[in-house]
Amino acid sequence: MIPYASIVRRLYGAVRATAPRPETPPEPLPFHRSDWSAELVAQPTAETTPDARAAFEAQFRETYGLQPDTTVALVGSGRTSLDLGLSVLRQARPGRRKVVLPTYCCSALIQPIADNGLTAVFIDTTEQLISTRDQYVEALGPDVLAVIVVNLCGRRLPTEDMDAIIRACRAAGAYAIEDNCQDTTRHHGSDAFDASMYSFGFAKPIRATAGGALAIRGHGEVAAAQLAGYADQPDHAPATRLRYYATRYGWPNNEIDTAEFSAARVEFGRVKMSALDITLAQESLRRLPAAQALVNSHSQEIWRAIQQNVVIRPRTAAAPPPRNTFVRWPIILPSPDIANLFWSHMNALGIELEGMYKPLHLTYEGEKIGKLAVAESIYTRIYNIPNRANLDRDALSRIISALRSFSTDRLDAR
Ligand SMILES: Cc1ncc(COP(=O)(O)O)c(C=O)c1O
Repeated sequence: MIPYASIVRRLYGAVRATAPRPETPPEPLPFHRSDWSAELVAQPTAETTPDARAAFEAQFRETYGLQPDTTVALVGSGRTSLDLGLSVLRQARPGRRKVVLPTYCCSALIQPIADNGLTAVFIDTTEQLISTRDQYVEALGPDVLAVIVVNLCGRRLPTEDMDAIIRACRAAGAYAIEDNCQDTTRHHGSDAFDASMYSFGFAKPIRATAGGALAIRGHGEVAAAQLAGYADQPDHAPATRLRYYATRYGWPNNEIDTAEFSAARVEFGRVKMSALDITLAQESLRRLPAAQALVNSHSQEIWRAIQQNVVIRPRTAAAPPPRNTFVRWPIILPSPDIANLFWSHMNALGIELEGMYKPLHLTYEGEKIGKLAVAESIYTRIYNIPNRANLDRDALSRIISALRSFSTDRLDAR
């Protein structure tokens, strides 16, 4: 007689032999990746010296070719730089209450406009994800204080279009502001913007835990006086942010204290850029040319893969910007269904994607110029793939082969 235990063992063995082995999930390929050293993260140090600030400012001025008539204010974040800029400019032209900006851009631009008692006027975008010169110019009117020309994902208007917008603003008595938070190109036009804003947040080309700069022409004394009233950030805030980002985007499985992180997010208030962030941004700025070269070469490879895919190719018709410096690559899919499929496809291969913006006019109060139909259509079918400088060869190959193998077969079979 065969004992019961032996039957169970035999059956179990048979089941085990025939059951499909659970597939090992692919190694996650994170959208962002921190490259700060473990030593720095364990013991973040930076000296708060006026010299460190001055050295970073000098390096920054040189990178962007800022003229002597331009004041640089180093503040807590990109949005704080806009807050400072608008508050200075509105004092110079108090009768003007409107700020023109693309509806398709970072939502961080809204709060500074509202905090200055101004009204947002939204204009549409294009499939290039930037608004055109005509869209900006047509929105000008006697009550417009400023136009914010936003460079998104390293894409910017041709220099002559930028110049035309600056000229039109001058003629209409408005200020031209450039949002260069997602681009690192310097404007080589015949005239300069009245103000430019920069962000040194974690996901930006010049990376710190947070930070921003306002470069403003003229108005230097008013800007400096306002900046003098800004608070210093407590030392723990940048150190906590550093630990958080390094953990979240560096070593998976470490615990992330989100409550502690939230308490450290003081950078969006009227605060100065911290000493630690200046040190990090300075290092990032030093490495920028090498990082740009890498991002550019990744861009070319990704672009070739996109061109080989008949599903993605027709929509993403535009070549990457000539000096693509941004950490993400936006892909516009033909429909929301295909966009969902794309998301599942990339996720199944372990490749993390990021979503993109909701048009601001669908979310916030403000005025609209025209129908803004392009932005409303794009936002339902766009995803970003990683395009960071620290993608290694293996990660890049995985992205390229995932782009090549994407198809709509599953959708067509429904
Ligand atoms: C285009 C653009 N403008 C402004 C900002 C605001 O920068 P920050 O997050 O540093 O306030 C960001 C980023 O969030 C951005 O992407």
